[in-house]
Amino acid sequence: MADSTKTAKLTIDGKDYELPIHSPTAGPDVLDIRKLYAQAGVFTYDPGYTSTASCDSTITFIDGDEGVLLHRGYPIDQLAAKSHYLEVCYLLLYGELPSPSELEDFEHRVTNHTMLHEQMMNFFRGFRRDAHPMAVMVGVVGAMSAFYHDSTDINDPWQREVASIRLIAKMPTIAAMAYKYTIGQPFEYPRNDLDYASNFLRMCFAVPAEDYVVNPILSRAMDRIFTLHADHEQNASTSTVRLASSSGANPFACIAAGIACLWGPAHGGANQACLEMLKEIGTPDRIPEFIARAKDKNDPFRLMGFGHRVYKNFDPRATVMKESADEVLELLGVENNPTLQVAKELEKQALEDPYFADKKLFPNVDFYSGIILEAMGFPTSMFTPIFALSRTVGWVSQWKEMIGDPQNKIGRPRQLYLGETARDYVDIEKR
Ligand code: CMC
Repeated sequence: MADSTKTAKLTIDGKDYELPIHSPTAGPDVLDIRKLYAQAGVFTYDPGYTSTASCDSTITFIDGDEGVLLHRGYPIDQLAAKSHYLEVCYLLLYGELPSPSELEDFEHRVTNHTMLHEQMMNFFRGFRRDAHPMAVMVGVVGAMSAFYHDSTDINDPWQREVASIRLIAKMPTIAAMAYKYTIGQPFEYPRNDLDYASNFLRMCFAVPAEDYVVNPILSRAMDRIFTLHADHEQNASTSTVRLASSSGANPFACIAAGIACLWGPAHGGANQACLEMLKEIGTPDRIPEFIARAKDKNDPFRLMGFGHRVYKNFDPRATVMKESADEVLELLGVENNPTLQVAKELEKQALEDPYFADKKLFPNVDFYSGIILEAMGFPTSMFTPIFALSRTVGWVSQWKEMIGDPQNKIGRPRQLYLGETARDYVDIEKR
């Protein structure tokens, strides 16, 4: 925690309290209220954590007004253009870009953990065939703690390291198997001669009767999608992982909790919801109808893939994703894809509409990712599992950071209680 030289004065009922202010390396100052309850007997109130920093961190920085996203200081557009997912994983986990030998060693370690315990196949087979792959992933990742006992001791740095590598390595295998199971095809085992993205594509699309030849441009696009989703500081699923972990729970249970949180349509589930919305709109002439619905206070409908709690100018991930969508669709010869046409026209009309401008609502990362994933051959139900596998490194990095932090203590928010005060129990015959 940075030293505080500035303070803020708070006056309650005529009594003054001095609160330390911490200055970060970037971003707004942070008012330290940790001793407030002990000193002044009041809580602070911030549902949705709109003004609350829940931890200190050195991993990812976002400037929402300027559309800046940095991982360990490196801008996301540079990482998306020049780096690749496993190198970004190394950066997030260990804090610096790897040397060539460090990268080779890291890739080797990840590659050697891609297979799942064979008995886990039986676990998959216990699910209904029509289960959503996210439901399967929540269950299977949680179940890893029943299969990998030698990496559940969070107090042992070596076990933490092994758990981190296992999660990053096995998540593509789990996501691909969840997909294969729901479409009734046999599981494809990982292949260690392929890079991370190519291996995932092959595990999803190869069948025993016919191998899948990985197109390097599609593999690069897949890798870029992984990179763009790798981490996003204290978002809802990451905060869920941190909160679950604050009780001392094992890493597999904590990451399963993160996957469950990510699934919601306001978070990672937005990519599936967005593509379904674009398809429902169908043709550009129906766009005004949907924009009108999104603006109607009495209609719960929102433009999926629009808006963000932090970005209030543009989402830098969306900019890269849009370029990638153009590239992939051109490669596949489907640049006149009707869904892409609807997406582009919807973006244009929404950005010209004062409602969206006034509320600073812009396309987010989920607006274009689904179009690429669909063009690659993924069903909409696989969009959020792909987000989950990409975000695993972010969750793991934040979890490791938290466990190593001496200030780490169980997360326990307080509340503004508005219920009944104490009253006497009434026997059932008298009610
Ligand atoms: N369409 C129409 N109106 C919207 C939208 C939208 N997509 N997003 C926000 N608004 C309005 C909202 O009705 C509210 O209006 P008012 O002030 O009049 O009540 C105002 O904008 C602020 O919205 P909010 O819900 O208070 O903002 P938030 O920061 O709590 O929510 C959000 C952020 C991302 C949950 C929200 O913008 C949303 O639901 N977007 C659609 C879902 C989506 O695309 N989610 C993916 C986010 S990016 C990837 C990720 O993080 O997982």
